[in-house]
Amino acid sequence: MENLNNQNELIERTFGPNEQIMIPSDVAFFETSDSLVAVSPSIARWLVLTHGSSILFFRLLCQRKTINEAISHVKMQFGASEAERAMNEVLGEILDKEFEMGASVQPDLTPSPYAILSLNITNACNLCCITCYRFSGKPDDDELPEADWISIVREHASLGGKVIKICGGEPLYRSKDLVYNIIRTAKDNDIRVLLLSNGCLIDKEVVKELVDAGLDRIQISLDGPDRDTNDRIRGRGVYEKVMQALRHLCGSGIHVYLAMLPIPEISLEAFKKRGVEFADSLRHQFGSDLTISISQGILDGREVSHEHSLPHVNTCRKLQDDMGDSKTTAGLDLWQWEPGRMNLSCGYGRTFAVEPNGSVRACAGSDSIGNIKEAKLSELRCKLESIAINYMVDMIEECQGCSLRYVCGGPCRVRPEVCTDDKKQHILGRLIRSNALRYDLNPNG
Ligand SMILES: C[S@@+](CC[C@H](N)C(=O)[O-])C[C@H]1O[C@@H](n2cnc3c(N)ncnc32)[C@H](O)[C@@H]1O
Ligand code: SF4
Ligand code: SF4
Repeated sequence: MENLNNQNELIERTFGPNEQIMIPSDVAFFETSDSLVAVSPSIARWLVLTHGSSILFFRLLCQRKTINEAISHVKMQFGASEAERAMNEVLGEILDKEFEMGASVQPDLTPSPYAILSLNITNACNLCCITCYRFSGKPDDDELPEADWISIVREHASLGGKVIKICGGEPLYRSKDLVYNIIRTAKDNDIRVLLLSNGCLIDKEVVKELVDAGLDRIQISLDGPDRDTNDRIRGRGVYEKVMQALRHLCGSGIHVYLAMLPIPEISLEAFKKRGVEFADSLRHQFGSDLTISISQGILDGREVSHEHSLPHVNTCRKLQDDMGDSKTTAGLDLWQWEPGRMNLSCGYGRTFAVEPNGSVRACAGSDSIGNIKEAKLSELRCKLESIAINYMVDMIEECQGCSLRYVCGGPCRVRPEVCTDDKKQHILGRLIRSNALRYDLNPNG
């Protein structure tokens, strides 16, 4: 990405000094502790303004002042060199993001080629976590045979699919060879693969096989920042096994996500007290091969309830901000929030999950929409498309007047929660960090 400072020539060639830039009339301004974010829902774009001079310059453009008029106002208040900096920053962003009336938009609704196909290949599991929303343990009676999983991956590829997620239960507990074969088939078809695992069955040999098969990413779960709290949730000895798995995985070439789910009354307090220190020590030990991610929503599970966790959502968001890898998270946001892409969904209807018996769902927490044994993947994708349309953010009364709606995509459609200012500030914080990364600045700076 070209740095804004190198764009002055391009700006001069593009904008005339007496030009009025047609800024959309629906721009809404959101203040955060150190920036002003200008969002235009009609073109699904945003600008981040960090200096008083840039804010003034942009507001003058919104009032239809010409570039010359706007710059002389800013000069009077901030001086010539600051006015020039502000002009270059704002015009650079406008140019880069096509922040002008009538800019094209791309509604993101249907399962796109990048939509993730989740393959829940088993309900069998070697652990019995008190959180588990799938109540995993025993395999289901009618789990699909290996050949069916392989054909699903091939059909996904033929429909332009680019990403799969292998999940369960514990995928490696059902069959390591099945996992390796799914990965190999996906990689032969140019599909990126993410594997979710509890980490307990991962030794040196397994890591070698996963690397040989071509696995891109693995997500390992750890639900406490110490042995005691994690093992109260996931079982005795699990903390040590996960640490051992991390030692084998980090440095192997597979990128590792460590997913942590703080549980009120068990591990949340420990996360609040020791989370940041723990995250720092993991980063020190494993470096950039490891990304830490704090889950912010608890589903109803064996011994946990969604409702009980709701009062703690903001604490978990804060933990993600304090402990998580802001640069990596910002990198994902950067991809998700391309200027002009309208995020119309929370993900519901945009991704699809195949259950161990072949039944397909619009997301982890929703009902079945059909079974892969009776319908083609392409037919089920069409069904998902109509679900996505019926549930898009514009259909949600609370979100209809919100200028952040195409950034946010709206709340979880299965268990919606009331939106709060904290949630909006969290979204704005992520927008600001991903914007900083877009222009290659320090996202923490
Ligand atoms: C169902 S597990 C399957 C993969 C693997 N067995 C594991 O534990 O990572 C997938 C993810 O769901 C998370 N999870 C389990 N129960 C949950 C709940 N009640 N709410 C939210 N996430 C949950 C786990 O922590 C894990 O990261
Ligand atoms: S969360 Fe994962 S490891 Fe724990 S019981 Fe469920 S499937 Fe097994
Ligand atoms: S959930 Fe909140 S931030 Fe998101 S679109 Fe709805 S009102 Fe806006």
